[in-house]
Amino acid sequence: MRTILVTGGCGFIGSNFIRYMLDKYDDVFIINLDALTYCGNLDNLSDINGINRYKFIQGDIGDFELVSSIFQEFKPDIVVNFAAESHNDRAVLNPRIFLETNVLGTQNLLEVCKKFGIKRFHHISTCEVFGDLDLNDSNIFTESSPYKPRTPYNASKAAADHVVRVYYHTFGVPITISNCGNNYGHYQYPEKLIPLFVTNALEDKSLPLFKSSQNKREWVYVLDHCAAVDLILQHGKVGESYNIGTGVEKSIEEIAAIILKTLNKPETLKQYVQDRPGHDRRYALEWSKIKNELGWAPKINFEEGIVETILWYKNNPDWWKKLKNRSFKDYYDNYYSKLKL
Ligand SMILES: NC(=O)c1ccc[n+]([C@@H]2O[C@H](COP(=O)([O-])OP(=O)(O)OC[C@H]3O[C@@H](n4cnc5c(N)ncnc54)[C@H](O)[C@@H]3O)[C@@H](O)[C@H]2O)c1
Repeated sequence: MRTILVTGGCGFIGSNFIRYMLDKYDDVFIINLDALTYCGNLDNLSDINGINRYKFIQGDIGDFELVSSIFQEFKPDIVVNFAAESHNDRAVLNPRIFLETNVLGTQNLLEVCKKFGIKRFHHISTCEVFGDLDLNDSNIFTESSPYKPRTPYNASKAAADHVVRVYYHTFGVPITISNCGNNYGHYQYPEKLIPLFVTNALEDKSLPLFKSSQNKREWVYVLDHCAAVDLILQHGKVGESYNIGTGVEKSIEEIAAIILKTLNKPETLKQYVQDRPGHDRRYALEWSKIKNELGWAPKINFEEGIVETILWYKNNPDWWKKLKNRSFKDYYDNYYSKLKL
């Protein structure tokens, strides 16, 4: 039996990863350590809560005593670190918590790994550590591109990647890192672009597009991301990082158009709002390393995956309605006044 400590498993990607691993393997035991911050949601895993190869522990990755006690009791073979503050907009309002969780929380996990030993520490990172690209730049990011983060979230993720590498080079902790493009799929907290636009459109509310709506992102279906992480755990080379991309780039404008068309809603729902400060124009990853070395390629075609995702939110209003009620009234309505722009 492989014992995997997944952190942040009640969030979007972590919950998909836990379900993916439990479905795929009979010999995997998963401990999910999650602080249940505003976006941590037990409903994301309500279907697997009774499974005896799964255990949820509520707590902070930055709590040394707690993480040590988990290592003493469960002796994990592998840690996969998804836990993070992950929303760029929120990072502009409160950068500090991003540094505390994403950098110091990660360092704490590594410190415990160093003390008790681990077969693999895999860190989930992002394309955003590399900074932004010109919209038409043909030189996209490779694993050895320099880190040039421009927002508090991106800086915290970049710093965490450096710390992870430090624990490999200085202390010998066997690490791997993956830097992935923008994910889409089921269970994404409805403050992020796709679920926000879909759920707003379903409620006939406006879709807030940043004025630079030609800015684009590279889109990865969340289960393709999970499959890539699984492969890296099995065959990835210790000390290495792997880009996870697709080559599928879509602008904010294009995403809004697909959502409105799929839901048969009018273009008039689009509302242009001021850009977030430091709004990056474009991220794009060169992902031949994971393809050639590990044999990974995305399986989900974007045109099908996005429609399936839109329809999932349409068919699961009970999942997202309570989340929107929970945090949005005091948040997006006042976002720009809080920024004092
Ligand atoms: N969403 C994307 O498109 C994307 C792309 C590339 C990389 N990533 C990275 O993937 C990871 C997961 O992203 P996501 O979109 O699932 O995020 P999310 O915001 O949906 O989930 C984050 C989870 O971490 C938990 N958490 C936060 N602080 C914690 C702490 N101190 N201790 C324990 N748990 C804590 C939250 O409760 C939540 O369940 C993050 O590291 C993010 O940077 C995300």
